[in-house]
Amino acid sequence: MTDPSGTLQVQHRASLRSHNTFGLPAVARTLVRITSDADVRRVVDHPEWGRTKPFVLGGGSNLVLTRDLDAVVLKVEVRGRRLVAETEDAWIVEAGAGENWHDTVAWTLAQGWPGLENLALIPGTVGAAPVQNIGAYGVELKDRFHSLDAVDLVTGRSVTLDAAACRFGYRDSVFKQEGFGGLAGKSVITRVRFRLPKPWQPVLGYLDLERKRAETGIAHPDAQTVADWVCAIRRAKLPDPAVIGNAGSFFKNPVVSAEQCKDIIGRDPEIVHYPMADGSCKLAAGWLIDACGWKGKSVGRAGVYEKQALVLVNRGGASGAEVVTLARAIQESVYGRFGIRLEPEPIIV
Ligand code: EPU
Repeated sequence: MTDPSGTLQVQHRASLRSHNTFGLPAVARTLVRITSDADVRRVVDHPEWGRTKPFVLGGGSNLVLTRDLDAVVLKVEVRGRRLVAETEDAWIVEAGAGENWHDTVAWTLAQGWPGLENLALIPGTVGAAPVQNIGAYGVELKDRFHSLDAVDLVTGRSVTLDAAACRFGYRDSVFKQEGFGGLAGKSVITRVRFRLPKPWQPVLGYLDLERKRAETGIAHPDAQTVADWVCAIRRAKLPDPAVIGNAGSFFKNPVVSAEQCKDIIGRDPEIVHYPMADGSCKLAAGWLIDACGWKGKSVGRAGVYEKQALVLVNRGGASGAEVVTLARAIQESVYGRFGIRLEPEPIIV
């Protein structure tokens, strides 16, 4: 179906089950496919839709839907990938927000532009990557970020944001922030540009990658080999959302003060922790949840993945409410035992 102006692709009472990697049931009042900045402006200018707050949907890989959305849902499908510039010290590459993340990583590697290999196989789209500053195996999106284009949902104006304007943090950015200057729900990312530094240097410090190096005897892997290792590591411990619904890590790894960390280690010497540059300490949330005995457990049709306690899964037909009930029970038991509050990573709607 198209809108009155005949240019937008519109679906009413659209099921969102296939649009979120958890496979949770929810219905959108109206689903509009966005293929360009101009499409966003058509929504902003629409006599009826322009008055309500739209909901922006990327690949739905970091989302827990607990209810139907009585809103205009914008499904971002902006396509296209290109090399913007090559300088002496970097390749600048651009991709449309609707492009699949992993396919984009694979494409850059095939073109001979390395730098995103540690981020291979992360589910979702290019446009969702900056929202939560995706990260894995020692690299975060912000380390390879150049700039992005977004359209303001109030004015319909296109803007370009650099890294400082995106306010990247650990699994965080201005696009998740509600408060002063926050852009949560206020703009649609349409294109992202990456800065891939030259000469390429592999990031192999992460323990799992060190292990691969030792196992294979390859001391100096190329970028494609690193990507293959990352894919193998991820496949071994993370469920494929195409097979088992999930949203990746369900909680952030909590950061505690040096004193708190010392205290916790005193009580639980086994606890997996990573010292941070500022003296604080990041704790492995998966370890905390595992230590509370949650691995493999279920509440209704929502469960804790057998191979990685940080990942909650849809055992088939789960509702968002069941996922949230399970998450709360986990938070309570981790708080009860360790005095630490776990913060969910996905956006809960
Ligand atoms: N652990 C357990 N039991 C578990 C799970 C983990 O003891 O059930 C221990 C592991 O043995 C390991 C430690 O906890 O020593 C950390 O686990 P892992 O290396 O799997 O990494 P993580 O902290 O669980 C983080 C990111 C992942 C990212 C990996 C690799 C967060 C919230 N998660 O997971 O990101 O892929 O590191 O860099 O920061 C995501 O954000 O969705 C995600 C998958």
